Amino acid sequence: MIDNIVFEDIETIKSNLKGDFFAGKKVLVTGGAGFIGSWLCDVLLSLGSEVIVVDDFSTGRTRNIEHLMQNPKFKLVKSDVCKFQEKEKLDLILHMAGHASPDEYMAHPIETLQTSADGTRNMAELARKNDATLLFASTSEVYGDAEIVPTPETYWGKVNPIGPRSCYDEGKRFAEALLMAYCKQCGLNVRVPRIFNSYGPRLREDGLYGRAMSRFILQALTNQPITVYGDGKQTRSFCYITDTVTGLMLLTASSKAKGEVVNIGNTQEVSVLELAKKIKKITKCKSEIEFHPLPKDDPKRRRPDTTKLEKIALWKPSVNFEKGLKRTIVWFSGKKY
Ligand SMILES: NC(=O)c1ccc[n+]([C@@H]2O[C@H](COP(=O)([O-])OP(=O)(O)OC[C@H]3O[C@@H](n4cnc5c(N)ncnc54)[C@H](O)[C@@H]3O)[C@@H](O)[C@H]2O)c1
Repeated sequence: MIDNIVFEDIETIKSNLKGDFFAGKKVLVTGGAGFIGSWLCDVLLSLGSEVIVVDDFSTGRTRNIEHLMQNPKFKLVKSDVCKFQEKEKLDLILHMAGHASPDEYMAHPIETLQTSADGTRNMAELARKNDATLLFASTSEVYGDAEIVPTPETYWGKVNPIGPRSCYDEGKRFAEALLMAYCKQCGLNVRVPRIFNSYGPRLREDGLYGRAMSRFILQALTNQPITVYGDGKQTRSFCYITDTVTGLMLLTASSKAKGEVVNIGNTQEVSVLELAKKIKKITKCKSEIEFHPLPKDDPKRRRPDTTKLEKIALWKPSVNFEKGLKRTIVWFSGKKY
């Protein structure tokens, strides 16, 4: 179902995109039943693209895309991206399949590495055969515990290659290196956004898959303790979904983005404790803030330098943290605040 908030946000994204680049294009969205992937499907279909989703539903949800099932321009294939094959001619591949939540990738490190390595190799071959443009969803985690903040794309990262997060960080780093090799050796038209903490409606909130933002909101709405790791002074820069999806689509369409890695995120840095307090204040919940040990290798600060995105895509995020957070809470609770 598309509710009012999602509907308005799709219209906002469309209004940020000029021209008809996506109209009539056949687009494969891997991980299309997930948070960001399902938003891409909504926007692409409303811009006149044909969309094929491949998803194994490891963290994706039917409810994110069930409203699209009757659309003749939409096709869903339940499959592992590592094995998926498509005979129809593709114009664009938006490769979003991945294990984005720390609990989820730490519980399934082998599958996480496989999706990044074998899944990305499979998508690179498919893009090569089709002469298609390939966008790969990388992450701010490739920088690890960054020593330069705001972090530019030129920073090489500080990553523990055998730590608990390495299946995700190193998997994405391998995928980036693989795609740069395809670009250099075969001329593949790739572009690699490094996404910094995106949030908004459809971000999974339950148990194992919940990330800090959605977990805190759920805890507040059910008056459970809000569980902060460490002292909560570690920072993140949260980017609302309309800004993330606009950035991804502009990068897909930009001829200047070929072979480039580009940060996508909001530059407003917020501590995790601040996030918990803001959610408490907006929801007026009775939850206590509960402190738990900080997981190993948790990055201390995360804030992107988005100068390159501004140059290549002529775009910078426009939804401030307070507005995006309120919108997300309204969507999760169904109440006005
Ligand atoms: N949300 C963020 O803040 C963020 C930040 C950085 C990077 N990313 C990247 O963006 C992509 C999308 O993230 P998201 O937040 O939408 O996560 P998500 O978990 O909501 O979506 C990922 C989707 O990929 C699917 N998937 C996973 N492994 C698969 C496989 N082997 N074959 C087929 N489908 C598979 C899942 O079922 C899910 O639908 C991921 O690659 C993630 O690493 C997200």
